[in-house]
Amino acid sequence: MSVDASSHEALAQRLEELLEVESFPPPEEFARDALLNDPAVYERAAADPLAWWEEQARALDWFSEWETTLNDSRPPFYTWFEGGTINASYNCLDRHVAAGLGERVAFHWRGEEGEERDITYAQLHADVQRFANALRDQGIEAGDVVGIYLPMIPEVVVAMLACARIGAPHNVVFGGFSPESVKERMEVSEAKALITADGARRKGRTAAIKQSVDEVGMPVATTIVVRHTGIDCPMGEGDVFYDEIMDAAAADCEAVALDAEHPLFILYSSGSTAKPKGILHSTGGYLTGAAYTHRIVFDLKPETDVYFCSADVGWITGHTYIVYGPLMNGATSVMYEGAPDYPDKDIWWELCERYGVTLFYTAPTAIRACMKWGEQYPGRHDLSKLRLLGTVGEPINPKAWVWYYHVIGGERCPVVDTWWQTETGSIMIAPLPGITHCKPGSATQPLPGVVAAVVDEAGDEVARGKQGLLTLRQPWPSMLRTLYRDDERYVATYFEKFGPRTYFVGDASREDADDYFWVIGRVDDVLNVSGHRMSTAEIESAVVSHPKVAECATIGAADEDTGQAVVCFVTLEGELEGTDELVAELREHVARKIGKLARPKRIVWADDLPKTRSGKIMRRLLRDIAEGRELGDVTTLRDPAVMGQLEQRIAARRDEADA
Ligand code: PRX
Repeated sequence: MSVDASSHEALAQRLEELLEVESFPPPEEFARDALLNDPAVYERAAADPLAWWEEQARALDWFSEWETTLNDSRPPFYTWFEGGTINASYNCLDRHVAAGLGERVAFHWRGEEGEERDITYAQLHADVQRFANALRDQGIEAGDVVGIYLPMIPEVVVAMLACARIGAPHNVVFGGFSPESVKERMEVSEAKALITADGARRKGRTAAIKQSVDEVGMPVATTIVVRHTGIDCPMGEGDVFYDEIMDAAAADCEAVALDAEHPLFILYSSGSTAKPKGILHSTGGYLTGAAYTHRIVFDLKPETDVYFCSADVGWITGHTYIVYGPLMNGATSVMYEGAPDYPDKDIWWELCERYGVTLFYTAPTAIRACMKWGEQYPGRHDLSKLRLLGTVGEPINPKAWVWYYHVIGGERCPVVDTWWQTETGSIMIAPLPGITHCKPGSATQPLPGVVAAVVDEAGDEVARGKQGLLTLRQPWPSMLRTLYRDDERYVATYFEKFGPRTYFVGDASREDADDYFWVIGRVDDVLNVSGHRMSTAEIESAVVSHPKVAECATIGAADEDTGQAVVCFVTLEGELEGTDELVAELREHVARKIGKLARPKRIVWADDLPKTRSGKIMRRLLRDIAEGRELGDVTTLRDPAVMGQLEQRIAARRDEADA
């Protein structure tokens, strides 16, 4: 089907009109039926936050009730629901099965080659119990860290919940990270076992995962391999097949009653140094935040809704809004193995039509890609069941917002722009879709129970309209508990700047006259490429580990498609000349070290880098030239001439591109 020029023009005109609209009230019908449609919830939560969170925690099944809702006697080490015992896997599965919902579909899974599997709550319950026993048979006990490096297949959910069932914190690594990154994460978390697959499919090709994992060697006693693609798979000592240990395991495994503060998982995320941070989440508090936010932000009606989150389980969005939130709430979800443009650019919309998706959650970068591909792809499918759309991961530009609202949502669906982080565990700032009037580009307001403020360097609130630093002012149940085995870095990263009672987010933001938050982006050396968080230091250290490189400075330059793009300024060893071959070699080197997602978009050869007299690289100036801006103050540079040369290099490249 091709887009007819006149309808494309009509669309462009409608989008222009929508861009003029400042604020979008909840669609009337939506508001009428919404779980929450009375703004008084905000006041109720603010009047007694602890009572509010207790109410949310009571929505879960506890084996024994807590004694202390919040223990804040040792800030910033907060604990929630101390004395209570709970199990994540029990809350995701057992209680639904016990309530007679075992036959409800938990996941409509679609493989890249079109395979379909419907997995009910009862099936998931059975698989998780068996795999929990299999893990125990392999010597895994409560407190042992288990690594998971799997594609988007149902077994990844089984693996996570089986770990949770026996109290073994999981450490999931996104499939896009390289085996070297996996190895590092297994090492620093002292993982006992790794669960991976023979291979993974991506756009019609099969990657030999187990083989590449073996090439770097994993520091774990046991590697459990899911036979997913059937690709040849070398097995060595300590390697076992998932299906074989499942067959050998007993069927019943009771969920262990764990302390509310028992660690549920570690998830490594990038910080401002080359060493990733092991963000540690608890059980009771995390589950409370996940279930609560998934219910209220998506207005979830589990009996009738079909929910589709396009993230990967390897990110926090996958943990909270593919696995724990939806399953605790008894939702039916769609899970897709592949890329949004395979087998064709309409696969998401095909899935929405096929399974009757009502709630859809994705990232702005994906929406921008869909815009570029054109409205004919969603146009091929019936999307009339959709009733709510969500976004996460980066600020959404108003153009993408109105496109999403009109083309995908048919102007019927509220768009919830959700701001949060790996550290916050669950959504913090977002509209309540039956209440909030949305403004494209703003995540709107903190959810009931959450207190946010934009402050200056001294910690004082800035005037409305002024940019400042985003902070969260009260502890919340799903906040990270610490950085794994690094309490000091936890304090230094989040609580040194404004003291132990104010969480420093690391984002710049402003608040408008209606108290709406507009998050601008990171203030530290963390990049956001396609909603994926990366550290400049980590990329620099990967580039510099190449024998031909002397020095490297990495920046995130504004990019129309991916939000930011990785640009590396590289000084080579000795008299070496930068060539196109070397560009390719360095990009490949970074992909091998970290993963394809970190591969620099541009490499600029630099005889020298702009440094202050004390030798600090001035990345701000590099950003200025990469984004074609007038240079800021260069007087503090040791050698201001450096900038002239870099500008020439960049300009020459631009001419080449134009030619
Ligand atoms: O800068 C903010 C941006 O993503 C960062 C968190 O990244 P990560 O821990 O990987 O989690 C991503 C998924 C929750 C934040 O510090 N960010 C996330 N959501 C938004 C956002 N920026 C603006 N608007 C959002 N909705």
